[in-house]
Amino acid sequence: MGKGFYISKAVAIVCVVAAVAATAIIIALSVVYSQEKSKNLEDPVATGEPVTTTPSTPKDPWQFYRLPDTLAPSSYNVTLWPRLTPNADGLYIFTGHSTVIFKCVKDTDLILIHSNKLNLTTFEGHLAKLTGLNGAPAPTLKTTWLEVPTQFLVIQVSSPLKAGNTYQLYTEFVGELADDLGGFYRSEYTEDGVKKVVATTQMQPTDARKAFPCFDEPAMKAVFHMTLIHPLDTVALSNGMNNEPINITMDGQKVKQTSFEPTEIMSTYLLAFVVSDFTYISSGPGAKVLIRIWARRKAIEEGQGDYALEKTGPILSFFENYYNSPYPLSKSDQIALPDFSAGAMENWGLITYRETALLYNPGVSSNGDKEWVATVIAHELAHMWFGNLVTTRWWNDLWLNEGFATYVSYLGADYAEPTWNMKDLIVLNEIIGVMGVDALASSHPLSSKEEDIQRPEQITQLFDSITYSKGAAVLRMLSEFITEAVFSQGLHTYLEEFKYKNTVYQDLWRHLQMAVDKAGIKLPHPLEEIMNRWILQMGLPVVTINTQTGAISQKHFLVDPDSVVDRPSEYNYEWFVPVTYIKTGAAEQQYWLVQKEATNKDMALGANDWLVANINMKGFYRVNYDDGNWERLLNKLNSQPKDIPVINRAQIIDDAFNLARARIVDVTLALRTTKFLDKEVEYMPWETTTRNLNYFYLMFDRSEVYGPMQAYIKKQVTPLFEHFRDITLNWTKIPDGHTDQYNQVNAISLACSTGVQGCRELTTKWFKEWMANPADNKINVNLKTTVYCNAIAAGGVEEWDFAWAMFKNATIASEAEKIMYALSCTRQPWLLNRYLEYCLDPDKIRKQDATATINYIADNAVGQPLAWDFIRAQWDHIFNDYGGGSMSFGRLISGVTERFSTEFDYNQLLQFKEDNADQLGSAATSFEQALERTKANINWVALNKKPVLDWFNSETSPAV
Ligand SMILES: *[C@@H]1O[C@H](CO)[C@@H](O)[C@H](O)[C@H]1NC(C)=O
Ligand SMILES: *[C@@H]1O[C@H](CO)[C@@H](O)[C@H](O)[C@H]1NC(C)=O
Ligand SMILES: *[C@@H]1O[C@H](CO)[C@@H](O)[C@H](O)[C@H]1NC(C)=O
Ligand SMILES: *[C@@H]1O[C@H](CO)[C@@H](O)[C@H](O)[C@H]1NC(C)=O
Ligand SMILES: [Zn+2]
Repeated sequence: MGKGFYISKAVAIVCVVAAVAATAIIIALSVVYSQEKSKNLEDPVATGEPVTTTPSTPKDPWQFYRLPDTLAPSSYNVTLWPRLTPNADGLYIFTGHSTVIFKCVKDTDLILIHSNKLNLTTFEGHLAKLTGLNGAPAPTLKTTWLEVPTQFLVIQVSSPLKAGNTYQLYTEFVGELADDLGGFYRSEYTEDGVKKVVATTQMQPTDARKAFPCFDEPAMKAVFHMTLIHPLDTVALSNGMNNEPINITMDGQKVKQTSFEPTEIMSTYLLAFVVSDFTYISSGPGAKVLIRIWARRKAIEEGQGDYALEKTGPILSFFENYYNSPYPLSKSDQIALPDFSAGAMENWGLITYRETALLYNPGVSSNGDKEWVATVIAHELAHMWFGNLVTTRWWNDLWLNEGFATYVSYLGADYAEPTWNMKDLIVLNEIIGVMGVDALASSHPLSSKEEDIQRPEQITQLFDSITYSKGAAVLRMLSEFITEAVFSQGLHTYLEEFKYKNTVYQDLWRHLQMAVDKAGIKLPHPLEEIMNRWILQMGLPVVTINTQTGAISQKHFLVDPDSVVDRPSEYNYEWFVPVTYIKTGAAEQQYWLVQKEATNKDMALGANDWLVANINMKGFYRVNYDDGNWERLLNKLNSQPKDIPVINRAQIIDDAFNLARARIVDVTLALRTTKFLDKEVEYMPWETTTRNLNYFYLMFDRSEVYGPMQAYIKKQVTPLFEHFRDITLNWTKIPDGHTDQYNQVNAISLACSTGVQGCRELTTKWFKEWMANPADNKINVNLKTTVYCNAIAAGGVEEWDFAWAMFKNATIASEAEKIMYALSCTRQPWLLNRYLEYCLDPDKIRKQDATATINYIADNAVGQPLAWDFIRAQWDHIFNDYGGGSMSFGRLISGVTERFSTEFDYNQLLQFKEDNADQLGSAATSFEQALERTKANINWVALNKKPVLDWFNSETSPAV
């Protein structure tokens, strides 16, 4: 699936920064963001209920979740008729029939085929009809039933099906066209005051069986002949090209019938069908592949699909070249749906998207929104070959499919937008965040065992940030150490050998090894052995280099040094690490660290030399040095920062802060890595700094550390603010560079929050102009979140009430989202309390947004105690009225307690937990985690408060 979290990444990043701005408080969003991401990323069942009971040891084949290896489908003919208006019982339904032709591979008297939530028609008492083909006699049916727990239609026959014979199974069924975002479902929206219904699909991973009975495993590839019956004023789409519809009459209604060209041989999870009254724009005639972008009529008329259309062709050509393999289909449809659970889904030939992942509206969407569209399109198009043409055999290899698409989406987006530095941004967007997740003792390996992934819920749980982002990070590392040309050569032969078939990840290693051998590249161990250490054990190493002796060693990096790893690893948490480095003035070199400890004489330096390792963060590891080299690196950063590549300027900051968290280096060393920022204008170092300082704000923004910390950041950010003032000609134009546009947001946010001269005046002025003319909001779209937030923080009830009115009037969801956040930035307790009250009034704040809004308020240092009092006072109400899933208690508790760091906080939390022991519901584990985190915070503050305070003081007090 494509990537998708329910707030777009762009909004998340802006929010981090904006939170600093308004209230001098930031939540540790980089962490929250990765957790959010892992929770929501392409999770087709938005909240997969945990499996509560383990079934007793199964005995019969239909009690296993996997299909037996006795039958193999070759083709299906499926006809479906979705009703876009409810029936007499108020139910939206679809009807259909399906014929599957399959071959018997081993004699068997049992047919198991997936079927879930379908009501099947009976024929002579049985739920299906069986016939033999090519003269094979069909056995009579003995008994048929639906095995609900394992989602099978079970058919026992009176005499065995014979290996080598071909049979045909026919079913007729009724299903519900529910609004549950899975299988064949309905999406609703309003256009010109008219409610419209779309019938659409999301099959991955296991919901094709909700649309028609099928052998619903990725290795059960077949050809699909689809036919859809649909209302006259609608159009039907599917994986194959739609033929001209014909008019027919069904049940006395005039309807259209659209058949489709047969699909290629493909997996069920990649099927898609959509019935809508959407319209499209397309590539002109003469294009080799027909490209169409579909969306709501209004959206297409407003040109919101133009950007996607413009970029799809180039990205497809990029991948044809990269894989050295032509696009496998004759057309590429991409469609934006009003309701969609993931970000996008790579259905072969008919890619489905959430609107924000495909549509771009120049006047309204930010540059982050645009980047999102380009990367999601590239991600999905990459799957057309890798994932769709060649498919992994089972879901345990999901990391390969998704990690790969995530990695190459940055290459595709880079080709489409060469000025954006997309190949660098993968480090910020994917790698740094997942390094945080993977440094926890509770992480897990990329690769799972096939037998451990059986039930649909187990499959769904694999769609997390380890799968996507760490998968991308290790494949990028591999591509870098064997070179991109060799990597792509290996991909080419892999795709050639396995097209229309299935693989395991070892098949890819074999092809890459062949390419490596052919190119004459020397690796210290076979490629498979190198990669096993990265995919079969969790975590990542910290590499320590002593530049006095050239000693180099590795150790499992755990961000909490007190955590206990109870997951064994056959590799002892040691890795084969490609250590790239630059030392004083010399070109980049690579050293393979293949033991726990080694010596590389080339890394022993002269007294004035410096060395930086893990160039461009190509490797998935952190780096530590001897004190002397740290000093020389810091000097270099302060004197000639450009001698160190920009990604490494960000890396040095991020590694140092993380090493300090893990108590490997002193906290003041981490702080000192930010000293050169008064000369830095690039986005990546500033962004890593803001993410890392989040935690300092949380811990210290109500203590005596706050003043000196603010003074220091103000000093550092002032030149950046002035830089942007100059290059934007006094804020009258938008910076040219994509990452400069991002960094302008950082500049304004940090400058306003620390009181840099001229900043609040600016945001307040822009906001006042909007207030004077509400119909004409001239605020730059990239800056809206931070401008709203700062103006509301600096203002009073007038600003707040205006923003509230704008929130209630907003017709664009992303605009409403920005204002909803900004309303939490006020520093007036009574306004914050009133806003909290609004959170429990669904007419004011929709139930789905209540948790997020309370958490936004708690992000504000003034709002945090109010929010904590509020949820304690309202707990009964919250628990009873919002318990049914609309309020995430877990996130509420973790959000509201995020800056707890004193014994007093700890005791309050414990007391509340005990007082409400009988009504904690799904928040029980969150309370445990909050208690544990509070303890860790208490320890961290005890250890670090004094040195941090002293350091900020020494940096900001006038020199004597
Ligand atoms: C399936 O559909 C194709 C194309 O419409 C047709 O040629 C074929 O006969 C059908 N097969 C069955 C078993 O109905
Ligand atoms: C399927 O059958 C059940 C039981 O009769 C019924 O409650 C349900 O509404 C039916 N579903 C559809 C989509 O007709
Ligand atoms: C189908 O019906 C529509 C009007 O309902 C008509 O415009 C169209 O020409 C008809 N198509 C065919 C193939 O008869
Ligand atoms: C920006 O504003 C300052 C002060 O008002 C002025 O001196 C300067 O010339 C302006 N610069 C530009 C490029 O407009
Ligand atoms: Zn994907």
